[in-house]
Amino acid sequence: MKEISKSIIEITKLLSDLNFHDGDTLGKKINITRSAVWKIIKKLEEYDIKITSIKNKGYKLEEPLLLIDQQHIERELNNQKFKLEIFETITSTSFYLKQNFNPEKFHICIAETQTNGKGRMQRPWHSPFGQNLYISIAYNFKKDVSELNGLSLVVGIAIIYALKEININEKIKLKWPNDGVFDGKKLFGILIDLISESYSTTTAIIGIGINANMIEDNEKITQQWTSLKKITGNYIDRNKLVISLIHNLDYLLKDFEQFGLRHFINQWFELDALINKEIELTIDNIKGTAKGINEFGHLVLELKNGNQMSFSSGEASIIKK
Ligand code: BTN
Repeated sequence: MKEISKSIIEITKLLSDLNFHDGDTLGKKINITRSAVWKIIKKLEEYDIKITSIKNKGYKLEEPLLLIDQQHIERELNNQKFKLEIFETITSTSFYLKQNFNPEKFHICIAETQTNGKGRMQRPWHSPFGQNLYISIAYNFKKDVSELNGLSLVVGIAIIYALKEININEKIKLKWPNDGVFDGKKLFGILIDLISESYSTTTAIIGIGINANMIEDNEKITQQWTSLKKITGNYIDRNKLVISLIHNLDYLLKDFEQFGLRHFINQWFELDALINKEIELTIDNIKGTAKGINEFGHLVLELKNGNQMSFSSGEASIIKK
């Protein structure tokens, strides 16, 4: 686990114009020595960031790289109720928060890379440095764990609203129960752990991975995937994404706590990637037509015989005709 230094943020910001900059000038601009600049460049290379270095010309990034900037985000959030921790590297932001969350705050943990990021079913979550968003939030509900059905669906809706707020208007949909998809390919995933404190208090550790600027294929990713950059063609400033995500989660989680899932059912139906599609559920290999969700956030399927059944867990895939 390592906290991120201000110098690495500043150097990458200066290099993000994709021009050559020599070590001396870079160092002078942010008050560090040329050899400190060199160390930062080496570190970035260790994280697989592509940098061209040419003698007498200096360093040049091949792709823009704006790192997550704590001061910038805190200025925008401007509220004492948030606690924000940002790490250069960590095993998993969710694992960290499970051990360290502050129940009095909306506690957020972000990392530039995770060495042991986890997805659903204990699958690894590929977390290359500086490219995507790896964020976990600890949120304390004054509710029993049994009243939090459908929380991951509400988090999915909040992510889509956050993307809209930063002008990403492409048709991103939600695939029950935890995925954001575009054109059938996975864009983001949500993994929630619930820690029951007493019969009336539950802390949710909400882990979110959003593919932001990743464009290179990697054999470690077994699912079909896409990223915001692939969809829009633009480099995504993840700081803006974080700010909008926190605002939207803050609003929607409060509404969820007050009104429950029923408040969100219509919004889910508008964003549902599976609605009226022929699908197969991994559990028991059940097939049917997806008919949305019920009041508990369970998936409703219409079977061949016309009966409807609901499912609380499983993974759904659309049957291609
Ligand atoms: C999934 O779709 O399988 C869920 C993916 C969740 C990944 C995020 S990245 C931030 C947080 N830390 C983790 O180890 N996992 C979640």
